[in-house]
Order: sequence, then structure tokens, then C-alpha cells
Amino acid sequence: MTADMDQLAGLLREAASEKVLPRFRSLTSQDVEEKSRGDFVTVADKEAELFLTPRLIDLVPGSIVVGEEATTADPDLLEKAAGEELTWYVDPIDGTALFVAGEPGFAIMVALADKGEVVQSAIYFPVLNEMFLAEKGAGALFVGANSTSYLTARTSPQSLETADAAFYTKHFPGQWAPGLKRLKERVSSYRNEMCAAREYTDIARGAKDLASYHRMLPWDHAPGSLVLSEVGGVARNVETRQDYRPRILQGPHILAANEELWQAARKVLL
Ligand code: IPD
Ligand code: CA
Ligand code: CA
Repeated sequence: MTADMDQLAGLLREAASEKVLPRFRSLTSQDVEEKSRGDFVTVADKEAELFLTPRLIDLVPGSIVVGEEATTADPDLLEKAAGEELTWYVDPIDGTALFVAGEPGFAIMVALADKGEVVQSAIYFPVLNEMFLAEKGAGALFVGANSTSYLTARTSPQSLETADAAFYTKHFPGQWAPGLKRLKERVSSYRNEMCAAREYTDIARGAKDLASYHRMLPWDHAPGSLVLSEVGGVARNVETRQDYRPRILQGPHILAANEELWQAARKVLL
């Protein structure tokens, strides 16, 4: 069983208008906590996740929800969910640092996994009014303020020299530093948006070409990985050559616009 995509999109819009946008540029210091250094959570993250959780279960009866903030409160939740068939992964605000700074580039995102495989996802940038919807085997749809269109497959660039990248190096063990340095030297440009939702959707729609991550928390990666793979992009571990799966929580992953670019990046990183 899967969700009705229109209802799913409507739910994200509602969470945004009821729980997130009213707090945008209106947060008080009591509304913001630092979970660890530089890792923020706000009252809007918590309320949006509490809003979404029962409604997602209603959309797909029998599903369970693994939300970022519920997992912070109960770290065993990820493990408990591993045996479940239908699991929603929820990032109530991706790019919380941007949200706290009053920058518009943050998103709300969710993904549904069936036996560990992502089958549906929705990513919504409420201030920008950009929605990305993906269903396994059915493509990825962009819904903007004035247009709706299916994203098209990305066949270029195939060489690193013309690729624009985002390298997240923070959680890579030290042994990867030389390879990451080589990659940075080869690409045309690199710049992080501090928002996984942005990096995945930018690669899917052609605004960027490449990214790297080692920490693979499922609410950060499950939604975007489906949007990307539905346009022929790749999110894959360079050591195991396994495509991204939400039950794999870490490993040296490269995201690329197409297979050729992924292969080129892998060779330089290893
Ligand atoms: C963060 C963003 C960021 C990524 C971090 C995430 P959050 O999510 O997606 O791009 O590098 O690993 O934690 O905390 O803003 O939901
Ligand atoms: Ca996130
Ligand atoms: Ca978050």
C-alpha cells in the first residue's frame, strides 16, 4: 500500500502553513535549542513532526513513522523500525540552521519505504513554494508556483571538470581526506547549501551535479534519493557499490547526476 500523492503533497503544505511558516523569522530564543554544537532544533521542527506523524499513518494504514525529533528523544526508534514493512521517514525541517537564520532555503520532507526500499517521497520548500514528488518507477514531478513538470533524465555532465558539487566532509573518517581533496581539486566548483533536500533536488533538476555524504540518516537521504534515482541520478556507496538504502546509516556515498559522473567521482575518491 502507498499514499495518494496529492494528499501527501497537501499534508506537507498544511504542516508548512500551520506549524512552520508562522515561526519563520519570528523565533524567540526560547524556541531554539542546540542538540549538539551547530545542530539546532526549534519548536517548529517538533510541532511539524507531531502534526505529520498521525496523518501519515492515516494515509497508509499499518505504516509506522520514524521522525528525526522522535528519534532524538528515543534513539532506539531506528532499530525498532528496521523490521517493519512500511516506514515513513520524516524530516520536519531540513536546513534548520537556515530556518533559524531566517533564510528561505529550508524544506519539509518525507519518504515512504517498503521493506527497506524507498517507494514514495515528497520534498517541499515552503518559502520558495517548490514541491518535488517522486514515486518509484513513475518519475519525479516538480510543482512550482506557476508550473508543473516532470524532471527529465540527466545525461550530462559526464566529466568532473564541468561538474558543480557540494561536498559534505564532516562525518567522513580521516582516511578519506586525501580523496575528498582530490575531488575538490577536479570539479568546476563546490558549495554547500546546508540542506540535503536542496542538494538532492538541485542535482535532480540540473542546478548542481555532484555531492558527497558519509552520515546517511534516513530522514536526510531517503526522500531525495528517490527524486534523484527517478531522473537517472545515482546515490551509492563507493566502497560497497550498493545503491543508497534507508537502513544503511553511514558509509562513503556519492550522489551524481548520472552513472558516468558517479564512476568518475568514485575513481578519484578511492
Ligand atoms: C542537516 C542538513 C545538512 C546536512 C546535515 C543534516 P537538519 O539537516 O540536511 O545539509 O549536512 O547532516 O543534519 O539538521 O537541518 O535537519
Ligand atoms: Ca535534515
Ligand atoms: Ca531536521
